[in-house]
Amino acid sequence: MSAVSDRKFVDTFMVVLGILVVISVAIYALSSFIAGRTQEVHVREDAAFQQRIEERIEPIGQVAVAGQDNSGLRDPGGAAATVAATSAPAPAAAAETLDGEGVYNAACTACHGPGIAGAPKTGDATAWAPRIDKGMDTLVQHAIEGFQGDAGYMPPRGGYSNLSDEEVRDAVQYMVDAVGS
Ligand code: HEC
Repeated sequence: MSAVSDRKFVDTFMVVLGILVVISVAIYALSSFIAGRTQEVHVREDAAFQQRIEERIEPIGQVAVAGQDNSGLRDPGGAAATVAATSAPAPAAAAETLDGEGVYNAACTACHGPGIAGAPKTGDATAWAPRIDKGMDTLVQHAIEGFQGDAGYMPPRGGYSNLSDEEVRDAVQYMVDAVGS
């Protein structure tokens, strides 16, 4: 191989390399141009897309404070979660009084409807008969104060501390009535 042909080879090789570099830079520029027009503008600023992100990162719990405006809070399944905007020392009171069925649907059906975590299923006579034998007062007391039984743990007022004693009693009555005995 002569020095001339070596030189020629290197020149051609450099030209090919240069073309490849130009092509890859062009592809990079083109793809970021397309991504900038589609993803950033159309997707990121899309209202429905934003909404879905908001829903995904939404906090799962909210705190209602007595004596403050809680109207912006989400209502957990229609429960009487609205705290009356009265003076601070007043205990959190339910703004509206629900009847037995209403309380049940708001606070009890989550466990007692499907019968999860050992909760006696509403309407299941076999599960309820021995409990009803304890007497209404005991059942109400267990529902208000909470109850650790063999089957599982019944949280005080089903976890809804804003329910009044009467509301819990009405809900227990509703569940006892549902057995139909
Ligand atoms: C987080 C789940 C859960 C929720 C919510 C819940 N319960 Fe229960 N409840 C249970 C479990 C579990 C038991 C069974 C405890 C046992 O006997 O071992 C139970 C048992 C009971 C009993 C029978 C107590 C006894 O002495 O046998 C009553 C009455 C009752 N619940 C009423 C209610 C009412 C009223 C509500 C709504 C205000 C409610 N529960 C909400 C889980 C729940």
